[in-house]
Amino acid sequence: HTILVLNGPNLGHLGVRQPEIYGSRGMDDVPALVDSLLGTASGSVQLVFDQKNGEGELIDRLEKAREDGVDGIVFNAGAYTHTSLALADCLAWIRIPFVEVHISNVWARPEEIRHHSWIARHAVGVIAGFGIESYALAVAALVRRLEEAQA
Ligand code: DQA
Repeated sequence: HTILVLNGPNLGHLGVRQPEIYGSRGMDDVPALVDSLLGTASGSVQLVFDQKNGEGELIDRLEKAREDGVDGIVFNAGAYTHTSLALADCLAWIRIPFVEVHISNVWARPEEIRHHSWIARHAVGVIAGFGIESYALAVAALVRRLEEAQA
C-alpha cells in the first residue's frame, strides 16, 4: 500500500515550532514508529511524505494523489481543518480513504474554532493528541483497514 502522509500549513518545522504544544520530534521519527506498530506488516507499506503551506497547493497535491492511485492518506491539514470548505470539497470527491490527524488534542485547546473540523465527515477516522505518534497510529490503522477491505 502507498500511503501519502500530508502536512498542511505551519507543519514544515515540527520539532522546532512551539515544542510545548507540538513536541520536539519531527516527521523523521514517523517511519520507525510505524515499523514498531505494524511489525513485519510494515514491509508492504510505502510512505510518501509531503508538506504544503497553501490551501490550493494542498488541493493540487490531493488531486495528484488521486491521479497517482495512492491507496490512503494520513492528513494533518493544520488550521485549514477548521476553516477550509474547499479542502473538504476536495476530500469529498477524490474518494481516497484518509485519516485526519492532529498532533495536539484539538478539543483540549482553548480556541473554540479548533473544536470544529470541516474535513472530519469525509475521514475514516480522526486521531489527535498523541504528538508525532498520531501519524504512526493513523498509518497503522489505515493500513489495517485497507487490508480488511482487500480480504
Ligand atoms: C494541528 C492543530 C491545528 O488547530 C493547528 O492549526 C495546527 C496543528 C495539530 O496537529 O495539532 O497547525 O493540526
